[in-house]
Amino acid sequence: MEKIVIKTRDSVSDILVGAAWEKVKELLPETGVAILTDENIINIYGDRFPEFPVVSISPGEESKKLEVLEKLAEKLLDSGIDRDGFILGIGGGVVCDLAGFLASIYMRGIRCAYVSTSLLSQVDASTGGKNGVNLGEAKNVLGCFKQPEFVICDPLMLKTLPEEEYLSGLAELIKTALIGDRKLFDVIENNQAGILSRDPDLLSMCISMAVNFKAAVVTADEKETGLRRLLNFGHTYGHAIEMFHSFRHGYAVASGMELASGYSLEKGLITLADYERITALLGSYGLLPAHNIPDGIIARLLLKDKKKSGNDIFFVFLNGIGSAVAEKIPVSEAVDFYLHYKPGK
Ligand SMILES: NC(=O)c1ccc[n+]([C@@H]2O[C@H](COP(=O)([O-])OP(=O)(O)OC[C@H]3O[C@@H](n4cnc5c(N)ncnc54)[C@H](O)[C@@H]3O)[C@@H](O)[C@H]2O)c1
Repeated sequence: MEKIVIKTRDSVSDILVGAAWEKVKELLPETGVAILTDENIINIYGDRFPEFPVVSISPGEESKKLEVLEKLAEKLLDSGIDRDGFILGIGGGVVCDLAGFLASIYMRGIRCAYVSTSLLSQVDASTGGKNGVNLGEAKNVLGCFKQPEFVICDPLMLKTLPEEEYLSGLAELIKTALIGDRKLFDVIENNQAGILSRDPDLLSMCISMAVNFKAAVVTADEKETGLRRLLNFGHTYGHAIEMFHSFRHGYAVASGMELASGYSLEKGLITLADYERITALLGSYGLLPAHNIPDGIIARLLLKDKKKSGNDIFFVFLNGIGSAVAEKIPVSEAVDFYLHYKPGK
């Protein structure tokens, strides 16, 4: 087990990678805890939950909305959770985002922690302290920063994750490797059989590497003014593709990473050999479904990017495998690249 500590101005968060999730019992207060989870997780793991009141949501993104948050808060009140209470989220990114947001506003803020159950949440969503809910189609518009006291990332829980969810999370792991850890890229490239069979030791190592990178970024830039922008690599085109084609997030981000790598190649920031390694890796995990956003629509979608300022967007380029840089570019340039990009060139 590796403990990675994320220290920000006013909080400390311990990320426990490789720990058995049942260990959570030893870390919780004796009273005042409520567990927030989703129905899939209850069905698989519910019989081993610590003995505290459980509130649950329907699985999936549809539950990330204010209405659900309000109902959850009512249930916490009914369960007698007061200002000394503690919310334990057990689930993927949706549960962690809801649990963190609820803990930050319930009774003006109570304690929280997560058992992170999906690959996406273990490598990304549950660390860093961002939380929130969607507002209509606009993602994560309402939310805040609150660091969980601890996060348990148990790779054995990933065994029960549906294949598409697993691969979608893998795309975020590859993103971390591309922007910050060349060695992680080598590991993912050289151990495909182990990655696909979800080897827990291999996954522990990969998750640790990803969390260490994210911890360093978040510690340096908790509120996303600079360095943290790099975590959006692949997301500018990715969000547009996700909205237009309704692909799962990770698949859309993988296509966004392919495009951003092609763009970096065109700008002379990476070599053709690196570009080919990146696209081969994404393709080998089946992460590059065809997409085709028509002229006229792509500009509108790119302008929905939360990282825009006026008609410019912060676009994350690679300047090598394991190194990235954010640059402000006009949206029109990004549109033009999308329309003329041909994979493999
Ligand atoms: N806060 C952040 O920094 C941050 C970063 C990235 C993504 N996110 C958010 O994370 C969310 C996506 O997270 P996600 O992909 O984990 O989605 P999710 O929480 O909806 O989980 C995906 C599906 O897998 C199921 N599942 C989860 N763990 C399982 C397990 N161990 N076994 C079997 N089934 C399991 C869930 O029930 C669900 O059906 C999005 O809402 C996104 O906005 C947040």
